[in-house]
Amino acid sequence: MTDAEFKLFRDLIYAECGMYLRPGNKDFLNSRVVKRMAEINVNTPYWYYRLITDGNKSELIKLLDLLTINETSFFRNKPQFDLFRKKILPDVIKKREEAGERVLRIWSAGCSTGEEPYTIAMVANEAVPKGWKVRIFASDLSLSALETANRGIYDVKKTMQEVDGYYVERYFESVGNSLRILESLKRMIVFDFHNLKLEHGLSDIDIVFCRNVMIYFDEEEHKRLIRKFHKCINDNGYLLIGHAESIQWWDSGFEFLHDKKGTAYKKVRAEKP
Ligand SMILES: C[S@@+](CC[C@H](N)C(=O)[O-])C[C@H]1O[C@@H](n2cnc3c(N)ncnc32)[C@H](O)[C@@H]1O
Repeated sequence: MTDAEFKLFRDLIYAECGMYLRPGNKDFLNSRVVKRMAEINVNTPYWYYRLITDGNKSELIKLLDLLTINETSFFRNKPQFDLFRKKILPDVIKKREEAGERVLRIWSAGCSTGEEPYTIAMVANEAVPKGWKVRIFASDLSLSALETANRGIYDVKKTMQEVDGYYVERYFESVGNSLRILESLKRMIVFDFHNLKLEHGLSDIDIVFCRNVMIYFDEEEHKRLIRKFHKCINDNGYLLIGHAESIQWWDSGFEFLHDKKGTAYKKVRAEKP
């Protein structure tokens, strides 16, 4: 791939999904593109680029899927899930109760293969009083990751190291050497294809998890996304981001909080004028 071709792809990918590839990512991009070109018999990166930009939407989705990094695991960043269980959930439950509502609405934005929303579902299910509903919206740009999430079957050795025996017992069933999420837990979650670059239409959200997604975004896209979250999260609701990510460096409308090593952000004021 020439430098000129790299720039064409870089700009296209940024425009489509907010992921900003730096010059150091050229080999990564090249390897994914060349592999895909071989599968569909295209000879040069430029012709592959033309194919995508001439309106082949499904090929564009395929390319974006190939570029996403889907690394995840159950109870990833355990201190954050402790904070979620001990402070955040009781707080949002109290607020809903005061409003006479018995529902929690949580969004796992960039849910990858499902480990994050299933963890949220397990922890929330333990916390809500009887008769409450927990609705979890789980979205991602990667169709292949969403397929795995929908299947709900996991390799014990791969992503389940951190799952306590208590949760395994209550929320999984054995299938061969793997474990499958129980249907009752799955029903709490709606998985959906969604590109975070676009409008989502969600509102009345208590908590957003968007962890290890924005690391691929530049400053402008990062801010745009945080503003969208600010808009859909209820007053005093929460935003949880990855441990290597931060929004403290700008006036985002969220306040940083932490307990032990768990971190989160609380929405502290209404939308900017
Ligand atoms: C590293 S995984 C993180 C998964 C999970 N949130 C966690 O922390 O374990 C990043 C996920 O973000 C998704 N992603 C990246 N850009 C996206 C976009 N523009 N819209 C939606 N999802 C995106 C990727 O497909 C990938 O599944």
